[in-house]
Amino acid sequence: KSKSKSVWVCSECGYSDGQWWGYCRECKSVNTMKELVDVVDSGGGKTNGFQMSEKLVQSWLPKRAGEAVPLRLTDVNRGVNHSDWRFPLSGLFGDEVSRVLGGGLVPGSLVLVGGDPGVGKSTLMLQIAAIIAEGKEIGKPAPVLYVSGEESVEQIGNRADRMEISTDELFLYSSTDIEDILVKAQALSPRALIIDSIQTVHLAGVTGSAGGIYQVKECTAALLRFAKKTDVPVFLIGHVTKSGDIAGPRVLEHIVDAVLYMEGEQYSSHRLLRAFKNRFGSTDELGVFEMSPCGLKAVKNPSEIFLSEERSDSEFLAGLATAVIMDGSRTFVIEIQALCATGSSLSRQVNGVQAGRADMIIAVLMKQAGLKLQSNAIFLNVVSGASLTETAGDLAVAAAICSSFLEFPIPSNMAFIGEVGLGGELRMVPKMEKRVGTLAKLGYKKCVVPEPAAKLLRGLDFGEFELLGCQTLKDVINSVF
Ligand code: TYD
Ligand code: MG
Repeated sequence: KSKSKSVWVCSECGYSDGQWWGYCRECKSVNTMKELVDVVDSGGGKTNGFQMSEKLVQSWLPKRAGEAVPLRLTDVNRGVNHSDWRFPLSGLFGDEVSRVLGGGLVPGSLVLVGGDPGVGKSTLMLQIAAIIAEGKEIGKPAPVLYVSGEESVEQIGNRADRMEISTDELFLYSSTDIEDILVKAQALSPRALIIDSIQTVHLAGVTGSAGGIYQVKECTAALLRFAKKTDVPVFLIGHVTKSGDIAGPRVLEHIVDAVLYMEGEQYSSHRLLRAFKNRFGSTDELGVFEMSPCGLKAVKNPSEIFLSEERSDSEFLAGLATAVIMDGSRTFVIEIQALCATGSSLSRQVNGVQAGRADMIIAVLMKQAGLKLQSNAIFLNVVSGASLTETAGDLAVAAAICSSFLEFPIPSNMAFIGEVGLGGELRMVPKMEKRVGTLAKLGYKKCVVPEPAAKLLRGLDFGEFELLGCQTLKDVINSVF
């Protein structure tokens, strides 16, 4: 005999409640609590709404009881040797994409491509889809299926025309029903499957609307089963939500094999593709691209980015300093702007920098480095709305202020990493090597770091990159300005 009892589950965050409320007590969304029947079976095992939905999920690829049996280790058919065989990706991109993926596309892998809306994920994936379909490297075209839940096939077709993609073997499909998509994919047996985006697809029988945590998680799980079972590599596009995660909590990162993030400033035409997690390769790789009306192009020599932006008319650059901050294991290069203005008002405005931290750095600059900032109004801003939460940016904040105060522009290929202490001394911060490595890869030429960090990193090879070790802020001012 089984008893049933109702529970209410939030379709946004998955929170379950024994009682109905007009809103979710966890995430405060209104009208998202859906009633589910919680079945307590006679065996004492408890199934809740979540497990019930999982049963439904598994039905897309029928697995009858007794179909699968335990296998002797030596009898397991390894299929393609994953460590040896990878699909090479070159075409338009040189080896930029290939390198980020760890040397090519591994059969049966599930790759999440994340990034802010509008950063260029659909464009990049359409180009990759065309490259895979053409299969120039292995001399044989094969079908690739690009599924969009966001655009119609006509829209994707127009986009492909703009990018001068005209591959016969590229198949487009517009659908949001994952079961339907996988049935079609299975019939086509493509060389790769691309889903744009995970937030728009849904699986019948799973609680919540598309984009909600249950849907995102279950659809990803279904795609993972598909990839593993058919050996078709699957790319999954995911929009990063405001909180910086893909689909709210980082539910997907540990389900998939690789996570690539696409990054770029809103007003810059450069895009970075970075491996955040990769079961088949390293996560230190970075691909650099340039946007163009006909899609992304690989930037062979990233230092050109910075050379081209170097203005001889340096007036505008005073007050601008570059910092490198970490977000989890990702590094970001950000620019800090400072403006020191003499005038009647002595106000201080900071944007993206913690006010207390800014006050401290300003005080240290006055007291320990002798900068006469007393009669200045000071404005600080982190370019493009990023926020500086790490002390590793202290030195760049100080440098930006000095640069504006002394009206001395800092060369745009120079960066600053380090924490500033109350005595004006520079302190080491974690992961110096990774930060400096990112700068070198991006084509920066020089970085000011605390003296101990310079000693530590001196033995490493960063190409033409120069490390300038300094003990105190005074040293920095003497050697840079
Ligand atoms: P899109 O790929 O649609 O971004 P996402 O899928 O991440 O939301 O790109 C956004 C817009 O930018 C789109 O209108 C096309 C344009 N775009 C180019 O014109 N050239 C490019 O190289 C890229 C990457 C984008
Ligand atoms: Mg898109």
